[in-house]
Amino acid sequence: MAQRTLCIIKPDAVKKNVHGSILQKILDSGFKVRGIRMAQLSENEAGKFYEVHKERPFYNELVTFMTSGPVVLVALEKENAVQDYRTLIGATDPAEAAEGTIRKLFASSKGENAVHGSDSEENGEKEIAFFFRESELV
Ligand code: CMP
Repeated sequence: MAQRTLCIIKPDAVKKNVHGSILQKILDSGFKVRGIRMAQLSENEAGKFYEVHKERPFYNELVTFMTSGPVVLVALEKENAVQDYRTLIGATDPAEAAEGTIRKLFASSKGENAVHGSDSEENGEKEIAFFFRESELV
């Protein structure tokens, strides 16, 4: 059954001008784009989006980084989208990411790691709803 997952191409990747290459890799891997837009996240939005990490030592750094420049928000759909997208992006830390993954190719550190991916089908739906109205999804 088709699943949806949220991709965020993070400020480091947009600054390096590799957001097109990242999106192409995602498309080449069989994902359909159902919604897409660029955004400059506010501190409030980024803080809310990452609320589950609020108690983690890297939370403030994460919010500062995610608001440091524009991001690309992409609602993706595919069979088994959540797991397949996580495989495509690789481990959170690019040093541990498999060869050929998006983070291995484009990320520079655990914090500045090029892309976000939802960790479950339930969170994929929640995260897409956080950034997109149903009418913006095609
Ligand atoms: P993401 O998939 O967007 O979800 C949570 C983010 O927290 C994660 O990617 C990383 O960018 C960030 N993160 C996780 N661990 C660390 C860390 N030790 N230091 C800084 N950022 C981190």
